[in-house]
Amino acid sequence: METEILEVVAGRKGEKAIARAASLLRAGRLVAFPTETVYGLGALALEPAAVSRIFEAKGRPSFNPLIVHVAGVEEARKVVSEWSPLAEALAEAFWPGPLTLVLPKAAIVPDEVTAGLPSVAVRAPSHPVARRLLAEVGAPVAAPSANRYMAISPTTARHVEKSLGGRIDAILDGGATPLGIESTVLDLSGSLPLLLRPGAVSIDELEKVVGTIARPEATAEEGVARVSPGLSRRHYAPDAQVEILSFDELASRLAAARGGRVGVIARSPRPAGLEVEAWLQLPDEATGYARQLYAALHALEDAGVERIAVEALPESSEWDGARDRLSRAGG
Ligand code: TXA
Ligand code: MG
Repeated sequence: METEILEVVAGRKGEKAIARAASLLRAGRLVAFPTETVYGLGALALEPAAVSRIFEAKGRPSFNPLIVHVAGVEEARKVVSEWSPLAEALAEAFWPGPLTLVLPKAAIVPDEVTAGLPSVAVRAPSHPVARRLLAEVGAPVAAPSANRYMAISPTTARHVEKSLGGRIDAILDGGATPLGIESTVLDLSGSLPLLLRPGAVSIDELEKVVGTIARPEATAEEGVARVSPGLSRRHYAPDAQVEILSFDELASRLAAARGGRVGVIARSPRPAGLEVEAWLQLPDEATGYARQLYAALHALEDAGVERIAVEALPESSEWDGARDRLSRAGG
């Protein structure tokens, strides 16, 4: 299949691109679109046949449930069976935005979306293109990140094309995504809110609104796997082998290494005299770092390096999302 590239530019051509994307989605087809986090691969959430195409195109196992994207609270309430005061407070504080809430599902949500779970993940994205698209579709849109299973998440239309070109109907190109890592996933279906995936909203910000949140570290590994089947240990996997090292380890290992094509993602500048295939210096600040992380991994993968050495990240909570993504890319 030929994948249409629909560029969202200012003016009528941009309007037409969104209208075309919406009409493809309404016809049950697959369209990748930008959100504020990463590009999503969308299909009508309430149409089992459309949702099945997502799994086919990604090569994603069917036990891994999808996030349902909605225009706002009103639409969210239609896909859940219980909208709690906690959900209301969180949506009030963080929607539209990069927070996904897991709640008991409504009967209209097909098992294909939730992988048979009694809960559904839902979020209202804030990206203006995603919002215009959802408004024009007029129905909830299921969308995982728009990459092949186990590949690096896309933050540009070109990343999507590299992974899914020829396998999906269209890509709505709205430029690079502003946040760069996926949404925070919070499970509200149990007695205590449980953080299933750290992301663009930090746990500190969440706790200001909801009080104490249970963290995955506090839960048995198998327990987390059960509540969030998609949270596999190795999830964001470039072709190259990824190692996370302190700056000192990194510098001494690279100085000792002979041969082998190594790319580095660091916050520090390249030490003088050290030769590597590529040294990508990202911002030493969590938001800027997250924005550029996947693009850096894509660039090193495209360059064909065999190993990617990453300078370890600080332990503070604003770095949780980026640290989590790197730990899943490694080993
Ligand atoms: O930022 C994002 O969240 C992006 C954009 C496109 O919105 N989407 C995204 O989707 O990252 P995906 O499919 O790559 O990750 C969805 C995560 C998975 O870890 C999955 O297991 C979890 O959400 N999830 C979905 N439904 C769930 C449910 N009912 N219970 C527990 N976890 C769920
Ligand atoms: Mg993903």
